[in-house]
Amino acid sequence: MTIIVTGGAGFIGSNFIFHMRKAHPDYRIVCLDCLTYAGNLSTLSSVMGSENFRFVKKSITDREAVFKLFEEEKPDIVVNFAAESHVDRSIEDPEIFIKTNILGTAVLMDACIKYGIKRFHQVSTDEVYGDLPIDRPDLFFTEETPLHTSSPYSSSKAGADLLVLAYHRTYGLPVTISRCSNNYGPYHFPEKLIPLMIANALNDKPLPVYGKGENIRDWLYVEDHCRAIDLIIHNGRAGEVYNVGGHNEMKNIDIVKMICRELGKPESLITFVADRKGHDMRYAIDPEKIHRELGWLPETRFSDGIKKTIRWYLDNRDWWETIISGEYRNYYEKMYGGREVL
Ligand code: NAD
Ligand code: DAU
Repeated sequence: MTIIVTGGAGFIGSNFIFHMRKAHPDYRIVCLDCLTYAGNLSTLSSVMGSENFRFVKKSITDREAVFKLFEEEKPDIVVNFAAESHVDRSIEDPEIFIKTNILGTAVLMDACIKYGIKRFHQVSTDEVYGDLPIDRPDLFFTEETPLHTSSPYSSSKAGADLLVLAYHRTYGLPVTISRCSNNYGPYHFPEKLIPLMIANALNDKPLPVYGKGENIRDWLYVEDHCRAIDLIIHNGRAGEVYNVGGHNEMKNIDIVKMICRELGKPESLITFVADRKGHDMRYAIDPEKIHRELGWLPETRFSDGIKKTIRWYLDNRDWWETIISGEYRNYYEKMYGGREVL
């Protein structure tokens, strides 16, 4: 079995590669990643050069390179993690999101059609459903919830999802889609809420909470997401969408306070800053379908997962300090430098 994993040098893709190496040691894994700011080859150092693993530095939008790779590898399965993934960046500059997330997905599927494939799996997001009101805790996203996006990022992901389903209906491509809630865990890029707060707290820097910090996200430990994708690519039904989430809703402010407590840092570091434009209020997944059809359940409770994650950032300071001391400084200055303090 040969699997092409795109975006495997990023957060979830790398964790998926580590999961698959353990769960299916006989599979050949080919990682296709063009190493944007979010891709990090050092993350993959433990598998680089090992048997049954190949890394290819190319973009999923590079049709010639993608077709050449398919010609060489004749993959059985493609799992597409490659994407521009940060909502705040999409608000500043949408174009690359449209190119990578929509066009790149189409290029991969065109190659799947030409060379034949057992499964094309699209890693999507719960953000394609838009948001839920904060005063209706009885409402959840199901696979039937209409797509209703808020940001250029989520719109590009929704566009890709529609294309994936169209390739299934029109060309009979055997596709599946997973729509997962917010992940956290090792190798999470420090522009995102949890790693940003851990890194800033450890450096005694302000902790910039958008608005009042009352927005709710539904957090899932990354390994649980990886297990879900493994199940879907092997046992999921072609043409189907599977929501993935663990019923773990938390307000942003409560997460940031928890991080302060775990690290022994004062809550006075918390600074309320101007809100994200179009900020989604609440995400909450109903994971009943993947549980019923594939037997998936989350295994890591948030209280354990957040401790493990904080421990990982303490034990792997080199990994994130290298990132935040480079180009990231310009990004941070642009996003937070002149931001209004509320
Ligand atoms: P990430 O930003 O950490 O990693 C993205 C990876 O894709 C990087 O390695 C980057 O170099 C690579 N990449 C970007 N453009 C590329 C291109 N044109 N060609 C090849 N590689 C390219 O993202 P992540 O958080 O690991 O998210 C992975 C996927 O999961 C994304 O599709 C995202 O939409 C989805 N998702 C993320 C979350 C989350 O909480 N992080 C939740 C649900 C779904
Ligand atoms: O729900 C799945 C999505 O989760 C994925 O599709 C995205 O790729 C991923 O980035 C994530 O999107 P969010 O926008 O929810 O994640 P982020 O970590 O950027 O923000 C989480 C919440 O924290 C959100 O309400 C905004 C807030 N926030 C974020 C940052 C970076 C702050 O208050 N301060 C910050 O500095």
